[in-house]
Amino acid sequence: MLSFTRQDFPDDFLFGTATSSYQIEGHAFGGAGKTHWDTFAATPGNVVRAENGDLACDHYHRFEEDLDLVKAAGLDAYRFSTSWARVMPDGRGAPNPEGLDFYDRLTDAMLERGLKPCATLYHWELPVALADLGGWRNPDLPKWFGDFAEVIMGRIGDRMFSVAPINEPWCVGWLSHFLGHHAPGLRDIRATAHAMHHVLKAHGTAIQVMRGLGMGNLGGVFNMEWATPADDSAEAQQAAALYDGYYNHFFMSGVFKGEYPANVMEGLEPHMPKGWQEDFGIIQAPLDWCGINYYTRKIIAPDDGAWPSHHEVEGPLPKTFMDWEIYPDGLYNFLTRTAREYTGDLPLYVTENGMAAPDVIENGVVDDPHRIDYLNQHVAAVQRALADGAPVKGYFIWSLMDNYEWSLGYEKRFGLVHVDFDTLDRTPKSSYHALTSALIRT
Ligand code: NOJ
Repeated sequence: MLSFTRQDFPDDFLFGTATSSYQIEGHAFGGAGKTHWDTFAATPGNVVRAENGDLACDHYHRFEEDLDLVKAAGLDAYRFSTSWARVMPDGRGAPNPEGLDFYDRLTDAMLERGLKPCATLYHWELPVALADLGGWRNPDLPKWFGDFAEVIMGRIGDRMFSVAPINEPWCVGWLSHFLGHHAPGLRDIRATAHAMHHVLKAHGTAIQVMRGLGMGNLGGVFNMEWATPADDSAEAQQAAALYDGYYNHFFMSGVFKGEYPANVMEGLEPHMPKGWQEDFGIIQAPLDWCGINYYTRKIIAPDDGAWPSHHEVEGPLPKTFMDWEIYPDGLYNFLTRTAREYTGDLPLYVTENGMAAPDVIENGVVDDPHRIDYLNQHVAAVQRALADGAPVKGYFIWSLMDNYEWSLGYEKRFGLVHVDFDTLDRTPKSSYHALTSALIRT
């Protein structure tokens, strides 16, 4: 059982669930152009079993059934993303009418069920035509992204409850260009500095474009990981502060303060694109809300390697199937810190939170008490943040259903609903049923 119900929250508090286009739709369908995730996955060594998003959950054909599940759980809102390459197969120029029609039908299907559509414009699958031009390293990317925003929101923007341009800028910048774990798989500090800046400029450009379309309720979605120093030494504190800097503060500080943290610029400044200081007018485009995706913390120790001169140490807490420590205090810390340091009264949303497990189906039942525990602990952290004055307005669970977990393929199951990837059958897990009982309106 979940230890909370809807009645424990303010009347207008939203409960939702989140997905993303490439992870669920089936990218092979509907005339979508190839993306850098298709090429990344086709390159040996990048993705477990070289799995890709060609079929995924076949949501492209089954979205009505999937939205029925969102509705039947008693959820209020559905966070989804729009695939740039589905809408504009070459990234620029002629749109794909089938792609636009798909998002139009998806939107109407949400509204017919009384669900609030919460869109993310970009959740990581860059069209290959733009990857060929340098992808996020290209200074024109923000402008092309603005054009995409105009095309897709010109079609569905009139019916959105909320929109965020970019999902998790840290992943687009650092994870993909410095650590090389996500497409395009680079490990290059100059590419990283450019991508981190351009992704924020793209965010601001799209916000301006959508304001121009007359749209409101526009926000940003930032992923955050709490950084705990490995010991009490000044060096460990400094190392954790730097991790916190390039992971968390860099993006919030750019968007809400118009500056980048000094400790991060010590490493990145020599590699920044020309004229970066002039772009904060765009990056700081005012927002209506701020979203936080939260999963875990990392324990950080200093070392003598090249900048950023630190590494992660294994932590003592219970872990999920991602090997991520379960640390709900981090969510409390981020909600209260974000309001205190960056956003004041601006509405905050937990736009993603959830856990992966090797869930199995037995006699038609998927029992996932671990997920119920995880949700209980993290929702309690949200309640504590609310009690301490953080203006949290909603909580979205990642994810509606098991899906393509990027370089880890299909075995990391995050869903409230189990997906059999052979038959594509959907089976609600016990966490889904618990949630349904918690959310019923009395
Ligand atoms: C964050 C990302 O937005 C999503 O794509 C991913 O599947 C989850 N975290 C879990 O790793």
